[in-house]
Amino acid sequence: MVQIKLQLIENLSLVSKTWVNWLNDKKINEFSDKSFKKHTINSQLKFVKNKLKLKSCKIYAIFFRKKHIGCVELSNISTTHKTVEVKILIGEENLYRKGIGSQVLKKIKKIVFEDLKMNKLKSSVVSGNIKSINFFLKNGFIKEAELKNEFKFDGVSYNKIYFSIFANNQA
Ligand SMILES: CC(C)(COP(=O)(O)OP(=O)(O)OC[C@H]1O[C@@H](n2cnc3c(N)ncnc32)[C@H](O)[C@@H]1OP(=O)(O)O)[C@@H](O)C(=O)NCCC(=O)NCCS
Repeated sequence: MVQIKLQLIENLSLVSKTWVNWLNDKKINEFSDKSFKKHTINSQLKFVKNKLKLKSCKIYAIFFRKKHIGCVELSNISTTHKTVEVKILIGEENLYRKGIGSQVLKKIKKIVFEDLKMNKLKSSVVSGNIKSINFFLKNGFIKEAELKNEFKFDGVSYNKIYFSIFANNQA
């Protein structure tokens, strides 16, 4: 099993050229709105600074062999409704399909269900993003809903698929 570490981002020290390069990589962000923007160190500093102000958000840096290789964001953390959304970005394509993303989700589930005592962890995916769809299904999420024609990438329309996993029904 691959060993990864998650480090809660509490300041701007991990914002780097490498992180910005992941965001500007069209292939990695093929089905993300991030692909429509040009990212810079300054835009990323501003993004993280704004996120740090939010109580409803936590960003973690993913470390593999002591190297920062990606990020995972928990957003819309609702202590009232006990729900939270997750987004994962592994920036190094040569590390894909080695079980790293699944290990990240395993740790995230622990944080969400055991530490934060949430009831529901959810994510949404563009219907063309087959690897993410398989990724969530493989990790015990269920498809809850699908909204038609929510996105257009390269002139093609895609649906928005919502995946969830519940505290009392973990795989
Ligand atoms: C989606 C992502 C997190 C997966 O990370 P990963 O480390 O490659 O995932 P894992 O190795 O744990 O793969 C788990 C399962 O996901 C599915 N999967 C992953 N990559 C896949 C691919 N290229 N094609 C089809 N299925 C894929 C498979 O079911 C895989 O299990 P298997 O290898 O036993 O068949 C990673 O590709 C990524 O960061 N992509 C860019 C950003 C993104 O799309 N994020 C998801 C939206 S939040």
